[in-house]
Amino acid sequence: MNSSRMITVINGPNLSLLGQREPAHYGNTTQSELIKKIEQKASATGVSIDFFQSDIEGELVQAISRASGSSIGIVINPAAYSHYSIAILDALSAFNGPVVEVHISQVLSREFFRSDLITARAADAFIAGAGITGYLDAIDIVCDMAGENSS
Ligand code: DQA
Repeated sequence: MNSSRMITVINGPNLSLLGQREPAHYGNTTQSELIKKIEQKASATGVSIDFFQSDIEGELVQAISRASGSSIGIVINPAAYSHYSIAILDALSAFNGPVVEVHISQVLSREFFRSDLITARAADAFIAGAGITGYLDAIDIVCDMAGENSS
């Protein structure tokens, strides 16, 4: 694996429950199906993926810091932590490369507290409401921003 072309994809709390969890908001795709689609997209794009999911804030912070020096960019869905984690905001701010924050649902049209987008302040791009396609588009965006796309 060529680490200079690796993208770290991080999912936060409760996203391991994709496919069972509130399908009206998050659809029917399971996390393992999501990983498969991300890997297919990555291989078509010529990058590799380091996927990580945790329900624990500190583990997400550690995954972001591990990406420094190993990945060209980060795609992250911090899930509920998006709305209040300064620790994740700080970790993303310290990452030297493009960061794309993804939300499966359109957070701005849901409960008022989901409009507080703390971690997105450290993101170069933000996708919400596109379902899991958001993760696939985010791979292209990271490659473009990192200067890794030939097109
Ligand atoms: C989410 C939106 C968050 O508000 C929520 O807490 C999640 C998932 C999304 O992908 O739409 O867990 O990040």
